[in-house]
Amino acid sequence: VTLGIDLGTSGVKVVALDATRRTVVSVTREYPLLTPQPGWTEQRPEDWVAATLSALGEVAGQLSETGHTPLALGLSGQMHGAVFLDAHGEVLRPAPLWNDQRTARQVQDIEARVPLTDLIARTGNRAVTGFQLPKVLWLKSAEPEVFARLAHVLLPKDYLGYALTGVLASEPSDASGVGALNLARLEWDADILSALGLAATLFPEVRPSTARVGTLHSSLAAVTGLPAGLPVVAGGGDNAAAAVALGLGSAQPEIGSVSLGTSGVLFAPLSSPTPDPRGRVHLFAHADGGYHLLGVTLACAGALQWLRDRLCPEVSFETLLREAEKAVPSEENVLFLPFLAGERSPHMRSDLRAAWLNLSLAHSRGHLVRAVLEGTAFALAETHDVMRQHTQLQSLLATGGGARSDLWLGLMAQGLDLDIYRTASTAGAAEGAALLAMPEAGLYASLQEAMGTASLAGLPVPRVPSHAPRTAYSAAFQRLYG
Ligand code: XUL
Repeated sequence: VTLGIDLGTSGVKVVALDATRRTVVSVTREYPLLTPQPGWTEQRPEDWVAATLSALGEVAGQLSETGHTPLALGLSGQMHGAVFLDAHGEVLRPAPLWNDQRTARQVQDIEARVPLTDLIARTGNRAVTGFQLPKVLWLKSAEPEVFARLAHVLLPKDYLGYALTGVLASEPSDASGVGALNLARLEWDADILSALGLAATLFPEVRPSTARVGTLHSSLAAVTGLPAGLPVVAGGGDNAAAAVALGLGSAQPEIGSVSLGTSGVLFAPLSSPTPDPRGRVHLFAHADGGYHLLGVTLACAGALQWLRDRLCPEVSFETLLREAEKAVPSEENVLFLPFLAGERSPHMRSDLRAAWLNLSLAHSRGHLVRAVLEGTAFALAETHDVMRQHTQLQSLLATGGGARSDLWLGLMAQGLDLDIYRTASTAGAAEGAALLAMPEAGLYASLQEAMGTASLAGLPVPRVPSHAPRTAYSAAFQRLYG
């Protein structure tokens, strides 16, 4: 088997996959999210390591009972965070995360010092609040005494790799979410870093996603019960690794994915690095050697969860979704702007805020819920309107908790004007990380063979519910979107 780690925001998941890509063990451990100030989100890298070692120990125990031998371990996890280390590799402070909003000023600074067209042409992205690069500049101005001791900055999963092997390294899919990777060369862009007064030596060497970073420290082999010398593979950012698990590769750019999780994510594989000229969607390296566009709406299933938790915590999601189905679609309906946490694609503005518009005495709770489902579909539709000029997407595989709702998926298919398919697979970033380790383990000759290709089984989700009048339904949806 190979092992895969997904270092998530709420917890870490470790899985073991056998040579037929079957998940034989899956273990999760949680850790706290720190919010020391409004708009700040942090985690303690020490918590990540402790939780991961505990999960690895549990996995090793279960594998030895079933007679499986771990051959390699792949890394993946939340993107964009900044782990600040001193010259001895000690963690200097808690790590600000991908959804942290403290860097609005540094984003302006970057765009003032590097011409926007140049920044986008080189890195595939404009400066983004959540990315790692503005976090480093924030440290420099807000905590100069910590910055003075700073020797290395690592992404979350790369810090885990360092803790496991003692080697500082990254790989293109996650490194392209820093904001300073030259996408054509897959190296740190020395011109951008020098314009910002940052030393390129702060950032680790970038290796291919399937390359070996190092081997498991013998002391940690003893702690976890895993074999000493177990190869650790660079892996991928969580979105790229999850795409690997779904078989979404750059050689097949007509199939992407939509994830209705806390945030909503649209993933479109690309064979060449084609950025949006205005940087309204992200262009990142894929873990398969190609590229992909990524659109992120920050509040998706998280918006529905917010509604439930704040207005009716005693009511189940199933009840709320049934009420939304009964709320007849009409352009007289409530409209929801889903910017509860600011917005990424396509607006890239952390200061946007949410609203219900058009409320009247006639509206029920079902209308409010329906508006949340529609508003998040509109948000991803706006993103797809930008992406479609650069991609060949025709179909999407649906993932995430919100994908359980046919109504929501139908609204998404209608808004994005793409066929959306359910997938039988529950494989996510952890499974993708295990697949990325398969070539190193010798279980498959190449990543392409290990990941296979995505298949669209069955029929796409209906865009309009069977009981609804098709033309009126679509017309009301289009007018609300407009
Ligand atoms: C992608 C992003 C999130 C994190 C979540 O740009 O910010 O999807 O990777 O883990």
